[in-house]
Amino acid sequence: MKKIHQILFEHSKAVIQNSYSPYSRIRVGSTVITKEGVIFAGCNVENSSYGATICAERVALTKAISEGFRDFVAIGILSDRFEYIPPCGICRQFIEELSPKIDVYLFDSKGNYKKYKINRLLPYGFKIGD
Ligand code: THU
Repeated sequence: MKKIHQILFEHSKAVIQNSYSPYSRIRVGSTVITKEGVIFAGCNVENSSYGATICAERVALTKAISEGFRDFVAIGILSDRFEYIPPCGICRQFIEELSPKIDVYLFDSKGNYKKYKINRLLPYGFKIGD
């Protein structure tokens, strides 16, 4: 049986090939695992109107949400230009709102990882009560 970090790394590595990143030339892949064990992967999608760019993490999460999944246990992030790429602030906010207890795995190119709880990466995150 594969370990969570292996699943996250393998899917992120595969999806990174689809990255649309002609402006930064930084390819990013991200994978989420739902509470049910379902896997969704996404890559960054850039745009000539730079602010319209969507990070890999939010692509993976929005794919999962739109398929009906709401609870996530782990998310992995991999880039071809960084070792241990840290998620941007918008992605931290996005991840934390959906799953405040999620484990975030930051990978290097070999599959080594650093693992953080999201509240360590985003302490005192903004929230609006239900
Ligand atoms: N990027 C991600 O996909 N995830 C992050 O958390 C950091 C940044 C992408 C967005 C853009 O396509 C490129 O990396 C450079 O910012």
